[in-house]
Amino acid sequence: MDHLSLEQVPAIEWVKGALRFIDQRLLPGRLQVIETADWRVVRRSILTLAIRGAPMIGIAAAYAVALAAAKSGSAGAGVGMSKVLRSLRSARPTAVNLSWALGRMEAIIGQTASPWWKSALLAEAKAIHREDSERCDRIGALGAGLLSNVNSILTICNTGRLATGGIGTALGIVHTLHRRGWKGKVYVLETRPLLQGARLTMWELAQMGVDATLLVDAAAASLMASGAVGCCLIGADRIASNGDTANKIGSLMLSRLAGSMRVPLYVAAPESTIDRSLANGQGIPIEHRAASEVTRLVKGASAFIPKVYNPAFDIVPGGSIAVIITEKEIYYPPYQV
Ligand code: MRU
Repeated sequence: MDHLSLEQVPAIEWVKGALRFIDQRLLPGRLQVIETADWRVVRRSILTLAIRGAPMIGIAAAYAVALAAAKSGSAGAGVGMSKVLRSLRSARPTAVNLSWALGRMEAIIGQTASPWWKSALLAEAKAIHREDSERCDRIGALGAGLLSNVNSILTICNTGRLATGGIGTALGIVHTLHRRGWKGKVYVLETRPLLQGARLTMWELAQMGVDATLLVDAAAASLMASGAVGCCLIGADRIASNGDTANKIGSLMLSRLAGSMRVPLYVAAPESTIDRSLANGQGIPIEHRAASEVTRLVKGASAFIPKVYNPAFDIVPGGSIAVIITEKEIYYPPYQV
């Protein structure tokens, strides 16, 4: 399967009562698909980042609910399903798309008295998936209109087909630009410690045929100082009403650099990433991950590294974001999204 592309092997799909998805931990070395009818396997896959990216974890969790429902009886199903929802919701705390998608599924679970509730759940999960793909197309079109004159884009993490139900958000804009004949370059931060940029974004860009250059995260400053970066374009895991945006660790650093070197920073995300219950980013929960993700490249680390600081995300202040592009509109500061 290793020579296949994301055009041929969808990152996630529902096939005859089971969920199939690419195990992103193994990419790009191995393109391996996990197929399961067990919602717990989906949850574990979200926890371990076999499935990742804000919109993608929402889609996967919605299908996981449909899988759990398919196995449940009718009596007391509502109670069992509440446990499933709670468990899925707690898998990753930062991306609001997860609880947003589960909220939509919960509304259907409220109708367990109906004989159709199980098929209604699957239909809702499929709708969440399909709508995300449509949102990506719209973000791509709006963003490509805005960025057509930019010659080079710096991005972080992975915001493409692997992270969404469609062509992607920030990377969906690159995809659309490329389809329209754009000849620019994309610079990709490797995205320590799990290398989503190096492993996943570089892989996706190679498949698209986009001119892409990989750099270590710490090289962002010197690259920007050289004048090579036309704009920074990033995704989001949660956006508060004032535009404060949680995204992959390193995004705050990027925004500070961009601000000091007068490079515009753009955020692209679906409306499902906006958390309007939060006035600002202070209330966004930041996921901290295992020390081993950072230390595993260091031989004998456990003998002399007692503590590791490993937040998966940080928060870019809305004030340092030039525009926020969603499927609905392009928002400009000061934000009241
Ligand atoms: O920890 P990850 O790989 O799930 O982090 C993903 C990101 O930070 C993405 O930028 C964000 O989810 C947007 S994906 C369209």
